[in-house]
Amino acid sequence: MPTPRSLILLLLLASPIFILLSHPSSASVSHPDLILPKVVNDIEAHVVVLTAANFSSIFAVRRHVVVDFYAPWCYWSRKLAPEYAATASHLADKGLDVALAKVDATQERQLARAHGVEGYPTVLFFVDGMPKHYPYYGERTKDAMVVWVSQRLVPEVQNVSTIYEAEKIITGHSVAVLAFLDSLSGAHSDELAAASTLEDNSSLYRAINFYQTTSPDVAKLFHVDPKAKRPSLVMLKKQEEVKLTVYDGEFRASPIAEFVSANKIPVITYHHHTGSRPSDI
Ligand SMILES: *[C@@H]1O[C@H](CO)[C@@H](O)[C@H](O)[C@H]1NC(C)=O
Ligand SMILES: *[C@@H]1O[C@H](CO)[C@@H](O)[C@H](O)[C@H]1NC(C)=O
Ligand SMILES: *[C@@H]1O[C@H](CO)[C@@H](O)[C@H](O)[C@H]1NC(C)=O
Repeated sequence: MPTPRSLILLLLLASPIFILLSHPSSASVSHPDLILPKVVNDIEAHVVVLTAANFSSIFAVRRHVVVDFYAPWCYWSRKLAPEYAATASHLADKGLDVALAKVDATQERQLARAHGVEGYPTVLFFVDGMPKHYPYYGERTKDAMVVWVSQRLVPEVQNVSTIYEAEKIITGHSVAVLAFLDSLSGAHSDELAAASTLEDNSSLYRAINFYQTTSPDVAKLFHVDPKAKRPSLVMLKKQEEVKLTVYDGEFRASPIAEFVSANKIPVITYHHHTGSRPSDI
């Protein structure tokens, strides 16, 4: 049996070693929550907390990221929180390539300002970490948000194989994008699909439809020289007359989306101010 005195001595000797072992780095000293296991039934288990210091780290692991800029004191932010958490859990269960994150905008003022946040809560959608983002104006419920997020994950590119289909596009739509490809699947088709999800589909602009074809006859209808290099891409707009704009940049999602964005037709000019919803057009 050790005497009480030697026990105390032992404890005194061991404690600095224990402290050193349990705090291997200064980072874990200041963020003990990082080394603690998550509470299993934490309803916010699937909501990623972001700060200015680690904001961009999420884009390295997730292509699509939704960020809720909230204020802890704000009634609407608090009301959104459980719905947002439920949306995150639902999407995580489906295994979709999307992360739902939140930023305390009262702590991260600069970060919030950099993203044009003027009211709380502001929910933005990021694709490929692009500074492009789309504020959520819908109902702040789980069901509505699941639909909104899911829609943004689905690429919408339709195949065009016949002249008949192509003519319908030219006469039927006001804005369309057509890619002339070697194949309806593969790398170029994937880039086009990604560009279609980058497209801001807000009611401020007419919906833009994305198409792809391998048919030289279809390409010709869109004034693309069938002998032109593939991939090529053309944008069709109809105002008083049909206007075709040929894309000559790199065949990658982001620059294609930029091109489309720069060439589309606003339905009306709309003056943005905080908290208001663009009227349904
Ligand atoms: C970002 O930092 C905060 C505060 O330190 C931390 O709670 C959070 O888990 C971090 N997020 C990521 C994705 O590392
Ligand atoms: C874009 O808007 C159109 C028309 O409003 C809709 O049919 C389509 O599903 C939307 N696409 C996405 C990706 O949200
Ligand atoms: C277009 O065609 C490709 C290749 O056949 C196919 O994988 C893809 O599902 C088609 N897309 C649509 C929207 O039908």
